Amino acid sequence: MKSPFRFVSFLLFLLYAFILSCTSYQVLCENDRPIIGVLTLPPKDPDNYSGEIVASYVKWLESAGAQAAVLPYSLDANEFKLLLSSLNGVLLTGGADFIELDPDSDYIKAVRMILDKAKEFQGFSQSEREAIRDGNPGSVVERADFFPVWGTCLGFEAIICVENMSKEDTLSQSTDYKNVSLPVEITSEADNSLLFENNQDIISSLSDASNPIPFHNHQWIIPIETFVNSYRLSGSYSILGYTEFCGDNCTPSVTIVEHFLYPIFATAFHPEKNAFEWALSYNINHSSIAVGVMQTLSQTFVDYAKMNSNMFLSEDEQDSHLIYNYSPTYTGKDSQSTTTQVYYLPI
Ligand SMILES: *[C@@H]1O[C@H](CO)[C@@H](O)[C@H](O)[C@H]1NC(C)=O
Ligand SMILES: *[C@@H]1O[C@H](CO)[C@@H](O)[C@H](O)[C@H]1NC(C)=O
Ligand SMILES: *[C@@H]1O[C@H](CO)[C@@H](O)[C@H](O)[C@H]1NC(C)=O
Ligand SMILES: *[C@@H]1O[C@H](CO)[C@@H](O)[C@H](O)[C@H]1NC(C)=O
Repeated sequence: MKSPFRFVSFLLFLLYAFILSCTSYQVLCENDRPIIGVLTLPPKDPDNYSGEIVASYVKWLESAGAQAAVLPYSLDANEFKLLLSSLNGVLLTGGADFIELDPDSDYIKAVRMILDKAKEFQGFSQSEREAIRDGNPGSVVERADFFPVWGTCLGFEAIICVENMSKEDTLSQSTDYKNVSLPVEITSEADNSLLFENNQDIISSLSDASNPIPFHNHQWIIPIETFVNSYRLSGSYSILGYTEFCGDNCTPSVTIVEHFLYPIFATAFHPEKNAFEWALSYNINHSSIAVGVMQTLSQTFVDYAKMNSNMFLSEDEQDSHLIYNYSPTYTGKDSQSTTTQVYYLPI
């Protein structure tokens, strides 16, 4: 006759979990303390560091009201999945082109586990979708399965490669798109997207060709034609924005995507740089319009992360993963550097 006892203790556990989620973190049943994992990048010098995070990505999240946690790309798969289940979303950063998007690499395996996590989402109810349309995602009942993921530049490429299962067939190489601000044309699919449906006001600035704001610094592009021809990509992601990359010819290429069903967003350009990167060698627009547009994107991503109810098992465990355990290095002092600050994570 164990079962009544087990049932009562289960109820007590539920009550405890409810009290914990509603009081001890002052959450009041709405997650206003989102923690977003930032996937580390493989180090250039593995003898000195176990991974790195460019600090502007952390600031981009922090400026929108989130805390950043370190998500080590090389963590053992079980530990990695356990850590994901304590986070409210993940940011895949841009990074150096020495990183190979090899399907068997630890980095790509980590990206695959992150996308699998986002794909546990079971879909919105009608009322949840309406709350989001009303511009109030934070008011939506929290759920553990809504796990937003954002990929920037290398993160964008990594998502494309994981989804299409190869790099060679998917991305085209080019060297013309480094260090340039270029407009992004927003498509009509953006109207009903999670990313833009409440952000129609930034569309004209993103696509303004006379004062281009989105900063591009990549070697690879994905032409719209390639994307549309891949059933894996065009069958699961909407193209919300594209950019004409012009060398001898112009190639309209995909620069913003959102998954049809899951909260997976990615941009080929760098929304974190306008406010937070100061290298003189880069042609970045720092105007208040540019900063505001990119802040709208981080705000939207973080607001979706607030709908996720995951939490760490204890405050100590949470503290041990937060970025505050590390100090960024001021890399911008070197006039050749393309970053202002970088977290080099110890081995
Ligand atoms: C790695 O550490 C060694 C020893 O401290 C140092 O000489 C070297 O410059 C470091 N490399 C990098 C890339 O920081
Ligand atoms: C940056 O963009 C703003 C507004 O879009 C524009 O007015 C300004 O001239 C641009 N600045 C530079 C240095 O291009
Ligand atoms: C990946 O993209 C290429 C180019 O469009 C396409 O030929 C290929 O079929 C795609 N692979 C998959 C698995 O969809
Ligand atoms: C980036 O572009 C700016 C302006 O066009 C230029 O002055 C600078 O030298 C370029 N930097 C690199 C690293 O190519």
